[in-house]
Order: sequence, then C-alpha cells, then structure tokens
Amino acid sequence: MKKFVLKGTIIENRPLNDSYYLLRVDIGKALLKEGFQPTPGQFVQVDADVTGAFLRRPISICNFDETTALMDLLVQKVGLATDRWASYQPGDRIDLVAPLGIGFSLNLDWVGASPLLVGGGVGVAPLLYLAKRLSEKGITPSILLGAKRSELLVLEETFSLYGNLYYTTENGSKGETGFVTDHSIWQQKHSSVFTCGPMPMMKAVAALAKKFNYPCEVSLENKMACGIGACLCCVEKTTTGHLCTCTEGPVFNIEKLLWN
Ligand code: FES
Repeated sequence: MKKFVLKGTIIENRPLNDSYYLLRVDIGKALLKEGFQPTPGQFVQVDADVTGAFLRRPISICNFDETTALMDLLVQKVGLATDRWASYQPGDRIDLVAPLGIGFSLNLDWVGASPLLVGGGVGVAPLLYLAKRLSEKGITPSILLGAKRSELLVLEETFSLYGNLYYTTENGSKGETGFVTDHSIWQQKHSSVFTCGPMPMMKAVAALAKKFNYPCEVSLENKMACGIGACLCCVEKTTTGHLCTCTEGPVFNIEKLLWN
C-alpha cells in the first residue's frame, strides 16, 4: 500500500480529559485522488516536533472521512511530543507518514454478523474507525469499552453512532463493575472479536475469544521507532518467526501469536 509523507493542517484540538485529546487533521483532498485510503487498525508516524527528538511517534488512526479528508488522532499525553502536540492550534501544521501497517480484517465472511469490539485506554482509537467501517457495511458491532473510572472513557458519543455500546469501570462508576472480561456481554454469542488496549487486557480478551472459539484479532501496541521495518525494535514472536509489528501488524490474528 502506498505511503505518503505529508503535512496536515490541524482543524481542531479537543481536550477529552486530563490525559487524552483528539486532533482533527485535514490531510488534503488532493491525496484522496492519489489513493490515500487508510484501513482501520493502520497508524501514522507523527513528527515529534520537539528539539532534539528525531524519532516519529506512532499514533493509531481513530477515524477518517473519505469525503472531507479529515483524520482524527486520539492522543494520550505521555511525554514531550504528545505534550507538544497538545498545544497545537487550528491552522498549525503536523508532519505525518501515513498510512502504515496492516489493519483489521474487513472481510464479512470473517467478521460475521455480530462482531464484538473490546477496547481499553487509548486502545479504543482504532476500534472507532473499525466500528465506522463495519457500520458502513451494514454490520452493527457490539462495542465494549473499559476504564478504571468513568472520566477515562472517551468518544462515547461517536462510538454510539456506529454500534451498541457497553461499559465496564473498575470502580463501578459507569456500566458493569470490573474488567472488560467480566462483562455480561460475553454471555451473548458473537461472530468475531477485535481488541486493542493494554497488553494484559488483550491477552485476557484473546483467552476468552479462544475459549468461545471466536476468531479474534488484536492490535498490538509494541514500542516502535522507525515504523517501516528497519530498526527491528517492535518484533513480536509469532508462529512464523519474529515479525515486525510496524509492517506485519500491528493487527494480528491471535492464532499467529505465541503468547505464553
Ligand atoms: Fe522499526 Fe518496527 S518500528 S522495525
């Protein structure tokens, strides 16, 4: 798939809570004509825009509108680069390489009629774009979002446009109390499972999917540097050897992962 090095324009920078903000970026309609069409689960590498920081940072594509060429990036403040971007104002420019990696399966024979999307933390980002693309195909996914407490749940209104929403919070402030794997939605039948979030959560979700014999894809959040398969810092052990998460993932079928 063709990759683009581009300068987008910030349209909106919306704080969502103390930790997260949403950047809406206009990547320019001209790129649509050149074939720019990301898949849910793919990511962008963003220039840190901080003096002395040379490496770009990987950020999942949270949403993309094929008509307006607007892309949403959900960002968690975790360091100098993400603090810098938090200060961006409408009209500022942002330097991206996109789209990168391999995204989720959208083949309806694989997805089935009743997929379950399970997200935690900033890992909800790629699931929103996935839910949108599934809903465009006539599928209404079940979407389970988990957080420690309700203030950390984000983008609920947008998620609700694309599927049926369920929650767990560890302190019981919204939805069912506990972890995503405790939710009663697991008592219903699903055709497939997609998940992204903290590694222990994804492993627990993958174990449940396996138990119920649901096909399952996870979007790994391994540390990345180059984002193009050159530095090998993002490798994951798989049934076909060590694979770069940035080029062979970040989305993997759980049958391919050697999680022991
Ligand atoms: Fe460099 Fe994947 S981030 S090889």
